[in-house]
Amino acid sequence: MTARTNITINPQRLWDAIMETARYGATPKGGIKRLTLSDDDKKVRDWFKAQCEALGCTVGVDAVGNMFALRPGKNNALLPIAMGSHLDTQPTGGKFDGVLGVLGALEAMRSIVDLGYETNAPVMIVNWTNEEGSRFAPAMLASGVYAGVFTPDYAYERTDRDGIKFGDELARIGYRGADPVGKQKFQAMFELHIEQGPILEAENRMIGVVTGVQGMRWYEVTVRGQEAHTGATPMLLRKNALLGAARMIEAIHQVGMAHLPGVASVGLIENRPNSRNVVPGEVFFTVDLRHPDESVLDQMEKEYQAALPKIAEELKLELEEKRIWNSPAVKFNPDLIACVREGAEQAGYSWREMASGAGHDAAYIARVAPTTMIFVPCLGGLSHNEAESTSFDECAAGSQVLLNAVLEYDRRLA
Ligand code: GLV
Ligand code: MN
Ligand code: MN
Repeated sequence: MTARTNITINPQRLWDAIMETARYGATPKGGIKRLTLSDDDKKVRDWFKAQCEALGCTVGVDAVGNMFALRPGKNNALLPIAMGSHLDTQPTGGKFDGVLGVLGALEAMRSIVDLGYETNAPVMIVNWTNEEGSRFAPAMLASGVYAGVFTPDYAYERTDRDGIKFGDELARIGYRGADPVGKQKFQAMFELHIEQGPILEAENRMIGVVTGVQGMRWYEVTVRGQEAHTGATPMLLRKNALLGAARMIEAIHQVGMAHLPGVASVGLIENRPNSRNVVPGEVFFTVDLRHPDESVLDQMEKEYQAALPKIAEELKLELEEKRIWNSPAVKFNPDLIACVREGAEQAGYSWREMASGAGHDAAYIARVAPTTMIFVPCLGGLSHNEAESTSFDECAAGSQVLLNAVLEYDRRLA
């Protein structure tokens, strides 16, 4: 379909940018490992900054490393219209999660600059720090600081599994910026992202007009038993922390199954001492519960928290359990949603409204500014996987609709 808008993005230039930056942290299986504040994160940030400055944008960095590339408009008394997402990835991440939102915005900006088009309001691209929460939990950390959910000090004190602090790594890679968090204001934010689920592909639609994000809660669990010799310790005398964790993981899975479309997952587990002839003495694992309805999520939390002590007691284990993060369900702004619908119509793409199963920076930004998201399909609904795949045409469609939506919003300001 040809776009009916007056500014058309350059699909090849967008694709080339995605492939070029995919080198920073490239994995042998074709994905990206670009953990937050790693050397590869620094490289992609440096690249992004240089590209934005080449366009004539001013790039500011705030005290938690969020990057803001600003292009003035006709009326600079108006706050900027932002387009933002993230450039960090999972340890076995793909080329598109987060990346498409930043580089699709860069392509939109390049297209505006190419034509010398003057928007009414300034336009801005944002790269949010640590969306993934994989190296430093929780997810959406620096957009959370921006939205006032966390303090900068809370962010600085987060540690990775090796005990390295977020604040130290931020300074080490040179991205602890001078600007106070929240100083760079904007009047609206659009986030382009891959769907990370199977719906658009199954219905053969190009654009997801995103109406909100489901509620998410993260927990950390430590189960303690007693290290003992596997050959010499009779079965009935063991305090096996890993056996306890295994039963707990099954119970958590059943909490998800009992509350569909809710989901309940254990994704990270550390077994100690992890030796083949030692009965495991301690296990650490993480829990992720999600549901679009907060009251059902409350019920899921109750059932999960009731199941664990029972299992621990049966196996004579000690249990430590705490909730470390709560991101309530979010509804996006109707005016921005209308701009996305209009942007998809203008470009002639099929669309449907949908909610997001994944977390996004937009979920926190929605607390402080009108916000919404645009989804495009990904092959088999797969993401957080090196095989994550969104086609040339799908990436282009997303960037075009992002541009259309921003220009539509800007036109409505006039
Ligand atoms: C972020 O990617 C999340 O949904 O956990
Ligand atoms: Mn993402
Ligand atoms: Mn992700």
